[in-house]
Amino acid sequence: MRRTVVVMPGDGIGRHVVPEALRVLEATGFSAYYVPAEVGWDCWLRDGDALPERTLEMLRMYGLGFYGATTSKPHAEALKELAPALRARTPPPRYQSPVLRIRRALDLHTAVRPCRSMPGHPRAFVRRGVAGAIESPEVDLTLFVQNTECHYAGVEWRAPPQSLRTELAAHPSFAPFSAVAPDDLAISVRVVTRAAALRTARAAFTFAKANGFDRVTLCDKWGVMTETASLMLEAAEAARAEHPGITIQRTNIDAQVLLLQRRPEDFHVLVASALVGDILSDACAGLVGGLGFAPVANLGDTCAVFEPVHGSAPRYGAHAPPVANPVAAILAAAMLLDHLGEAERAERVRTAINRAMVDGALRTFDVLGLPAGAPGTQGTREATDAILARL
Ligand code: NAI
Ligand code: MG
Repeated sequence: MRRTVVVMPGDGIGRHVVPEALRVLEATGFSAYYVPAEVGWDCWLRDGDALPERTLEMLRMYGLGFYGATTSKPHAEALKELAPALRARTPPPRYQSPVLRIRRALDLHTAVRPCRSMPGHPRAFVRRGVAGAIESPEVDLTLFVQNTECHYAGVEWRAPPQSLRTELAAHPSFAPFSAVAPDDLAISVRVVTRAAALRTARAAFTFAKANGFDRVTLCDKWGVMTETASLMLEAAEAARAEHPGITIQRTNIDAQVLLLQRRPEDFHVLVASALVGDILSDACAGLVGGLGFAPVANLGDTCAVFEPVHGSAPRYGAHAPPVANPVAAILAAAMLLDHLGEAERAERVRTAINRAMVDGALRTFDVLGLPAGAPGTQGTREATDAILARL
């Protein structure tokens, strides 16, 4: 069956890396229709909406998306860049991150973010052992991040309404804030629901079972956000009950980041809420060579969207020819193949990337640690060519 993939390159380097990922998909012999869909800053400037309804409709219809990256700015800044006629509209346009909106609108409840060390990567994690020897442990981590709740549910107030303040006044911890002037108060709510926490935890336990890992690490801030954290723990325990033999390890996000810097090889399957998971995600990406190597699959029950973890990197978005590392996007394409049951093609893609790295044929600026465009560095297209040559 021929699949249809909704392709949303977005902004900046998203536009550079997405076509390269599609080239690799096609080279594997994977057959699909690719339909382009708009998203991002140009849509915002033109319509006062960074995510056209039509793009959402297409995702609903085809259930499969490939996303590059979009530029987001805080609402006030975004509003300033709009033409006066658009700004004057009623209701006034409200800038919201399209990535977050897609996740919520399509209930892409779980983000899967693998971080695996790549043999031969010159900037992969190393540490000094006791006798001064250099150790380069193998990092093989997969994060399962709840994608639609936590502080990313978007439940926020600037100058919260009196009714909310009255409710909050009944909470003993709110007392120190009860007299703060409305304009001087902002509130962000962390939302956790049992059903959503369970779906993400289940995905993690199922993955651990299938890959022979006997421990799932649940990362949060246990002593501080006790109510939301304990509901997540209950959900994780329910998921564990379905997989006897796997244990739950609980860690705090601050300690976890430190542990990852010391002994990343000790962790394999991690589960976290949206904000905690986002912090972990970049921390883990750093262990395997940076954002140029981190893909993500956003999975829902009826739709899945694949993307590199990185953003639009505006500093590099105007480079001609493009300089961004395409590997994160190509790894996201491999995840799309896995998702569709094309495991053999997905593995060929990953093997080709690893070979290119071992051969020293991947030399984008981030790999070499040089300024973009410096002599000896490779562009986006050449890096893809090096991978294609080994596919
Ligand atoms: P970013 O991920 O765009 O870039 C941060 C830095 O990481 C870059 O300056 C570059 O040094 C490096 N980098 C990232 N991707 C790379 C690649 N493929 N090759 C080589 N180097 C790479 O994060 P930043 O600068 O915080 O955000 C830029 C814009 O992107 C913002 O407007 C932000 O809101 C947006 N963003 C969008 C995301 C999405 O669409 N999913 C995710 C993260 C940020
Ligand atoms: Mg991030």
